Amino acid sequence: MLATEGRKVWMDGRLVDFDDARVHVLNHSLHYGVALFEGIRAYETTQGAAIFRLSEHVARLITSARVYHMTIPYSAEEIARAVVDTQAANGIVPSYIRPLVYRSEPALGVKTLKGKVSLAIAAIPAKKYLGAGSEDGVRAKISPFRKPHSDAVPSFAKSAGNYINSYLAGIDAMNDGYEEAILLDVNGYIAEGTGENVFLVRRGRLYTPGLESDILLGVTRDAVIRIAGDLGYPVVEKLISVNELLTADEAFFTGTYAEIAPIKEVGHYTIGSRAPGPVTSQIMEAFRRTVRGEESKYLDWLTPVPVGARAAARARK
Ligand SMILES: Cc1ncc(COP(=O)(O)O)c(C=O)c1O
Repeated sequence: MLATEGRKVWMDGRLVDFDDARVHVLNHSLHYGVALFEGIRAYETTQGAAIFRLSEHVARLITSARVYHMTIPYSAEEIARAVVDTQAANGIVPSYIRPLVYRSEPALGVKTLKGKVSLAIAAIPAKKYLGAGSEDGVRAKISPFRKPHSDAVPSFAKSAGNYINSYLAGIDAMNDGYEEAILLDVNGYIAEGTGENVFLVRRGRLYTPGLESDILLGVTRDAVIRIAGDLGYPVVEKLISVNELLTADEAFFTGTYAEIAPIKEVGHYTIGSRAPGPVTSQIMEAFRRTVRGEESKYLDWLTPVPVGARAAARARK
């Protein structure tokens, strides 16, 4: 359970007490999984708290909602401001911020386009999704649960319903003593983790699955592609077989919650000779500096969170 004392949740334009952030049990999203969400992080930077790649997360949320026929009744700028306000009102750093778009009115029947589209935003203390010590390497299992093909459910939309698949794979891996599952696409190529994208390193080059493997196009993935390229490691998007992963020099997960986590073992196979490997270490360090505002060329990825009077005034709304 989450500690809720003094916390606020932004709901349709108002900051309400955490325990008052409720929905009706017959809301459409709860029954059919038709809700869209984001996972965003705020970090402590050299200039105070800042939100990482806010505009990219907001853009993905709007796209996801559009795929599911929902028009969010706020502009991108208003959503971004609401995320900043939620962060400011809660003052938790590092935090994990969760905007959720859903139909809030009671409605049964799958084929509904009616009902109010609502936006809620919560912020909770950020933890390590793959466990304490994940920066030293995690053990992953190739999941018996495959990713659904995007012709069935589009992977590029971050919909709540997609996560019943992540849930099955994640619990299966956990029950077998692994920190994470690696899901294959319907053709048996590497897709992604339950909440992360996958990269591998071979002879100084980076490889990662592309959209044809039914992945979520991760915001961290995008940041790592840019950072790695700037460090002199071009990233190739391609179909990746299990064999390529098992024989890689290095492999790692990327995700907002997981950040960058080296993969040290897949099933009974050790990946490379040590985790994190040298290329992964270099990228992890550059990423660490980036999210803390220490890399001038990526400073525009950080949205500062105002403190003091402005934030307090907004929080009182
Ligand atoms: C299924 C899945 N793939 C990949 C990612 C990584 O995406 P991001 O880096 O935007 O957090 C996530 C996390 O949101 C995810 O849930």
